[in-house]
Amino acid sequence: MAFDTSQGPLLKVEHLTKEFPAGSGVFGGRFSKSVVSAVNDVSFEIYPGETFGLVGESGCGKSTTGRTIMRLNRPTSGKVFFQGRDVAAMNHRELKAMRRDMQFIFQDPYASLNPRMTIGEIISEPMTIHGVGTMEERMETVRELLDVVGLNPEHINRYPHEFSGGQRQRVGIARAFALKPKLIICDEPVSALDVSIQAQVLNLLKDLQDRYGTAYLFIAHDLSVVQHISDRVAVMYLGKMVEVSDWKTLYTEPHHPYTQSLLSAVPVPDPDIQKTRKRIILAGDPPSPIDPPTGCRFHTRCPIAQAKCSQEQPEWREVAPGHFCACHFASPFPIKESHIDL
Ligand SMILES: Nc1ncnc2c1ncn2[C@@H]1O[C@H](COP(=O)(O)OP(=O)(O)OP(=O)(O)O)[C@@H](O)[C@H]1O
Ligand code: SF4
Ligand SMILES: [Mg+2]
Repeated sequence: MAFDTSQGPLLKVEHLTKEFPAGSGVFGGRFSKSVVSAVNDVSFEIYPGETFGLVGESGCGKSTTGRTIMRLNRPTSGKVFFQGRDVAAMNHRELKAMRRDMQFIFQDPYASLNPRMTIGEIISEPMTIHGVGTMEERMETVRELLDVVGLNPEHINRYPHEFSGGQRQRVGIARAFALKPKLIICDEPVSALDVSIQAQVLNLLKDLQDRYGTAYLFIAHDLSVVQHISDRVAVMYLGKMVEVSDWKTLYTEPHHPYTQSLLSAVPVPDPDIQKTRKRIILAGDPPSPIDPPTGCRFHTRCPIAQAKCSQEQPEWREVAPGHFCACHFASPFPIKESHIDL
């Protein structure tokens, strides 16, 4: 996949932090208001036409990152720039213009489509909101979009319940493409679908990207889903980004112990690497994002943690050109079984 870095990034996220209030109580022996630290100091950029995969366990802050970028949430701190413009500083008109170029595809094709609207109305709604074309022209565009996403244009007046999950996700995709946006935030677009349908929908997203040059922020639980679609992949753990690189390096030479553990569950294309790979199963569940662990947030589950890890936050550093990692002891060598406390 080729993407263009010559014009600078389409999206730039700088030190993004999002906290949600979580009530009050006694924390660390003192009465205070607690917060959910959903996203903490996350920085990355996405270039025109690029697919940037964002992966991590449930609750690690992926959707909050996506929603805060779109300004569906206000950031607690940090900045988001879209086409060089500060999203937080945009007035209503500018925000509306930005949303024309930045769309969202949701995880759940059942909950995300209004059951009382026909699919023609659903897909044309963004064009109606933005005053694009006449009614006739909009319906013509909807028919074209239905054809492009592999649905029958004659079904334009049908309702969502008349379609399967995979077909509904195609409707959601057609809607996201109605305004030919520059960036689409795809929040787990295939995880609610049968495995047999997932590959078809991923292929459709790839084809549409080739056709329209759209960039994707592609959110997933699982490294195996983003592997086939991403140019670069970032891994999140408990609100923090822990590693990012081009997908091939991330899959063949992960430096962060958390990435190594996620990857140990995924078959890799290189048979030599696959042969030597052992499954790394981490002890316990991720801690709560309310009052997260000190130092490195992964230290309570990390198989190679040392004393320093619970005291000092690891720096975000470049371990190879374009390959960043936040770990005091980052190394390209996979965790050994002797390190794992099962
Ligand atoms: N509106 C909210 N109010 C309070 N807490 C929230 C809110 N939205 C998200 N959170 C919390 O923030 C954390 C991150 O949630 P988020 O939905 O971003 O995770 P995720 O990585 O998308 O998870 P999943 O894979 O399950 O979709 C979670 O602990 C979640 O409970
Ligand atoms: S900083 Fe320490 S605890 Fe965190 S990932 Fe690296 S080795 Fe593990
Ligand atoms: Mg989510």
